[in-house]
Amino acid sequence: MPKKIIITIDGFSSCGKSTLARQLARSLGYVYIDSGAMYRAITLYFLRNHIDWSREEQVKEALCGINLSFTFNEKSQQSEILLNDENVEYFIRDLIVAEQVSEVAAIGQVREFAVRQQQLMGKQKGIVMDGRDIGTTVFPNAELKIFMTADISLRVERRFKEMYAKNPNVTIEEVKANLELRDYIDSNREISPLRRASDAILLDNSNLGIEEQLEFAISLFEERITAVPAS
Ligand code: DC
Repeated sequence: MPKKIIITIDGFSSCGKSTLARQLARSLGYVYIDSGAMYRAITLYFLRNHIDWSREEQVKEALCGINLSFTFNEKSQQSEILLNDENVEYFIRDLIVAEQVSEVAAIGQVREFAVRQQQLMGKQKGIVMDGRDIGTTVFPNAELKIFMTADISLRVERRFKEMYAKNPNVTIEEVKANLELRDYIDSNREISPLRRASDAILLDNSNLGIEEQLEFAISLFEERITAVPAS
């Protein structure tokens, strides 16, 4: 059996975590899991079903009706999320979801629900998962932890381009306000706030190209896998 590890990538919104995580998983033949997509899909379900998430009972009942899974799209070569077997990858990227997701992700019951599934996905190792609390709460013993950050103006620009391609009515001010608010809520919530784990490697990609950051991550992987004893 080849040695396998768990790689966690945490950081602020729109730092390029998913780009790095996806490329790293592809290069290593690992599974990529976008944990943010799980919180987004739960939010979409709540919005569609008019769930009042300030009410514990409603949240509890709603979560019983949610089944999340991932599928690999051969055409786009990307993994996409299924909400009760419906591919919702397109809908979860909407600003309507982005505006509510941090609030939903701060709910204890929601986090327990998502974290339980994320931990199961990592049981066999060989996984790259990105999010906010992956290196601190989901996999505190992961062999390689990366914490990403980038200049706020670059992050706004990146997210704006992504959203504009889908909806030309979106403004840069809206995108900036959403990013700043999400970073604030994600970093200040009571349960599992966004934090750099003490053993996470800091990666500021403000001045790094996509290839360079991948090379850096692969070099970290090689160093860590060598240190793992053969099973
Ligand atoms: O990575 P993203 O922007 O798609 O994540 C959407 C939201 O989900 C983000 O604002 C905070 C929340 N999230 C979280 O609380 N914990 C995670 N592990 C991943 C995302």
